[in-house]
Amino acid sequence: MRTHRTRSPVEAAGFIRSGGIVAFPTETVYGLGADALSVAAVGRIFEAKRRPQDNPLIVHVADVEQVEMLAAEVSSEASKLIRAFFPGPLTVVLKKNAAVPDVTTAGLDTVAIRCPAPELAHAFLSACETPVAAPSANVSGRPSPTTWEAVLQDLDGRIDCILEGGRTEHGLESTVVDCTGSAPIVLRPGAVSLEALREVAPATRLAVEADADIRRSPGMRYRHYAPHARVELVAHPSEIPEAGPAAAYIGMDPPPDAPRIVHVLVCETLSAYAQGLYDFFRTCDARGVTIIFAQRVAPIGLGLAIVDRLQRAAGGAVH
Ligand code: TXA
Ligand code: MG
Repeated sequence: MRTHRTRSPVEAAGFIRSGGIVAFPTETVYGLGADALSVAAVGRIFEAKRRPQDNPLIVHVADVEQVEMLAAEVSSEASKLIRAFFPGPLTVVLKKNAAVPDVTTAGLDTVAIRCPAPELAHAFLSACETPVAAPSANVSGRPSPTTWEAVLQDLDGRIDCILEGGRTEHGLESTVVDCTGSAPIVLRPGAVSLEALREVAPATRLAVEADADIRRSPGMRYRHYAPHARVELVAHPSEIPEAGPAAAYIGMDPPPDAPRIVHVLVCETLSAYAQGLYDFFRTCDARGVTIIFAQRVAPIGLGLAIVDRLQRAAGGAVH
């Protein structure tokens, strides 16, 4: 199968309407979409990504009105969060209704819903005329794509179409919040910070390892977001040993001037760190780097999502 490339959201949507699978840009990362209500189309996503069948998908809507097509009930906490953060990089988990097939939610009685903000994503989702199930458009286990070129690297020939847009704004996946209980629980930190969520819904808390709630987000069990190279976290780049194999470094402080460090990304802000992280991982892989040193940041604001992805890439904190 040849993968068609287009900049037209309407043309890309045509593939979804005829049962195809299409990669498209959002403000977080590129997604790989299919008609969320079609068992056959959603099945093709799992096949193309080589994604385990027990990992549910996020369903993307063009506007808030479409939430009603998917959710059986929207709690008052969920309504508050939807009003405050849709459209944007927030995913809410709600009780699903019968319209959503089991393949989309991996058999769960809940559905994850999000409404991307960028104009191109909105135009695409509107033209699809159906909710669109979409995981990140990478081969399972690889870093999520933040450019259409990265999508092509992983999925060329395995998907019908790529809607070409620019580099994604946030670079890390959406914040996933379980809204099925009395207090919202953050299952995956992201661009909408815990602090921002608490301003709207003060009872919001983080899922913790010992928490049975974590089982509600099966995706958390897999080693995610990983480059081929080993990832080691450092508090400060001065900890990097001088001798050793070719290495790469990403962080906020500049690294020492050591010959072994062959690829560097120094980030001035947390936003730049988040935006550049996955692309940095992919460049390291392309250059055959075997070890990546990544500087930890304080788990505050966007820092929480960055630390979460770094720990997952390092192979830790996987429940
Ligand atoms: O920013 C994003 O969220 C991107 C873009 C494309 O929207 N999508 C994305 O999808 O990151 P994916 O499949 O790579 O990650 C979805 C996460 C997984 O951890 C999955 O387990 C969780 O959301 N999830 C999906 N449905 C769920 C549900 N019903 N209950 C709990 N967790 C769910
Ligand atoms: Mg993913």
